[in-house]
Amino acid sequence: MVGVGGGHGRGFRLREAEDLDLDQLDRLVDNGGEGEDAEDAASAARMRLGNRVLGPGRFGRMFRLPRFRPPDQALIELGQAMTADVPENPAQNNSNVPAGFTYLGQFIDHDITRDETEGFPPINDPQLIKQGRSVTLDLDSLYGQGPKRQPGLYNPDFPPERARFRLGTTTPVTGGPPNFNVPSILRNDLPRRPDERRTPIIGDDRNDENTIVAQTHVAFLKFHNKVMNVVNALEDDDNDGDGSATFTQAEEDSRSTQFHRAKRLVRWHYQWIVLNDFLSHLVDPDILADIKSNGRRFYDFDRAPFDGEPFMPLEFSGAAYRFGHSMIRDTYDFNRVFANPQQVPGASFPATLDLLFGFTGKGGMNGAPTLPSNWVIDWRRFFPVDDPELLNLARRFDPTLAEGLLRLIVDPGEPSVLAVRNLLRGSRLGLPTGQDVAEAMGVTPLTPFEVAPQGNQIVTPVLRRHNFDERTPLWYYVLREARLQGGGNRLGEVGSRIVGEAFFGLLEGDPNSFLSKQPDWTPTLPSAEPNDFTMSDLLKFVKDINPIG
Ligand code: HEM
Repeated sequence: MVGVGGGHGRGFRLREAEDLDLDQLDRLVDNGGEGEDAEDAASAARMRLGNRVLGPGRFGRMFRLPRFRPPDQALIELGQAMTADVPENPAQNNSNVPAGFTYLGQFIDHDITRDETEGFPPINDPQLIKQGRSVTLDLDSLYGQGPKRQPGLYNPDFPPERARFRLGTTTPVTGGPPNFNVPSILRNDLPRRPDERRTPIIGDDRNDENTIVAQTHVAFLKFHNKVMNVVNALEDDDNDGDGSATFTQAEEDSRSTQFHRAKRLVRWHYQWIVLNDFLSHLVDPDILADIKSNGRRFYDFDRAPFDGEPFMPLEFSGAAYRFGHSMIRDTYDFNRVFANPQQVPGASFPATLDLLFGFTGKGGMNGAPTLPSNWVIDWRRFFPVDDPELLNLARRFDPTLAEGLLRLIVDPGEPSVLAVRNLLRGSRLGLPTGQDVAEAMGVTPLTPFEVAPQGNQIVTPVLRRHNFDERTPLWYYVLREARLQGGGNRLGEVGSRIVGEAFFGLLEGDPNSFLSKQPDWTPTLPSAEPNDFTMSDLLKFVKDINPIG
């Protein structure tokens, strides 16, 4: 029989149990042939494990503060006022953050949390919210449940112990204006079913929500495949068979296959990127340094009922980390075809949010069977891999959102304005006001004049009418603070503290993260700076920076 949890005492951690037990389960199934009993036992244990990994009980609160639930109508008015319906003026609303970090941020979000609540019911007990992801930076959105339990994600040409991801192919484009033509078939789409919805075959379907996050997912699929090749080549050349050139930690783990070792390399490099590349672009450096040196002050999962396993803090998932919604632009210079012709000679027109939403399964691929070849991303325009002049910059971090976010593709009857959804969600989750959180942290709250500045004719009247300048929804507060304290380029005091502590906590609480297993580990894959690894290094390593040239 398979034990699903006992024997680890106070130090017992969910992921350890998962790694151990899933391997045992696999062996049970592999050694099958011993009748249905073994299979039944395996599937029953797997289900119990699944309920613990994916079931309710993985959300919680960082702060015990009064819930702020103003009237819905007031929140709807505010959400609508926050969404600009005037043409974008990049000269006025650029941040200094490369735009790729927006969608890397979305990709990370989809790795660590998925609130499975249907509709907008009020929720008082966070333990009742169903969490659809493991609350760790383990890339379960990429790996799914692994090659044995979710073989559809993987390339059938390789055995599970050397599993590579399946990739999708693009649809060649011919016959349009000359610059539209990209006649080659590229392995640069998500794998998709041939159904009407072009359903993506990936670990989390939200990574097909727009073309840029989908292309980010493709980059990570390729990253794993490439790392798998490297591990394979190194270990095959490794005469003493110890694989030491690649990964000493893996040697301790006699159960691991090449797939496990590659997955761990991928995860650790990704975790390094989150802490050292991503966060350093977004969070106040002093607060980040303070969390590193002095530890977390507010995100505490040692207490009951969490007992050492990280939970998803609602202040993060329902408010602070949604700051990324303000980074989204209405238009991008996407590649040599879809860009502003004044910036990129010969280009047709820029990639708008509407188009980027359309070239997804939900958007019916704008009528194409798979991603058209001329919609493969040019990463030089999103991360600093080449000429900084080419970069799209994220929109300034502030409470004004792109106009395209007025028109999300949503379930019937649900709000299609993203800002309205965020504000209603914050209220349903019973989040506190920004001012209350600031006081609980011991920082000076923004004044009503700072929240609602005199000059703003659109949002200030709404804020004042509903007293939101004195008691501000947390998500709005974090955005306003980012504009005032971070110059629109990074988060302010409250936002930085929530986001920084959450990421450190997720890594510290995961017994398999590099921070827990080998805190002095530094990246081993090729990089521009020794002992470092950035998203630009990852893209260079994958060697797929601008496939359409
Ligand atoms: C075009 C890009 C994006 C779109 C269209 C989008 C859309 C959405 C939608 C519709 C939701 C569910 C809202 C609700 O009903 O509560 C959501 C949730 C969320 N989004 Fe985004 N998002 C985008 C990018 C981002 C980025 C860049 C970040 C952060 C850097 C982010 C962070 C989050 C978080 C934390 C949640 C809550 C996740 C959960 O716990 O389920 N999103 N987003």
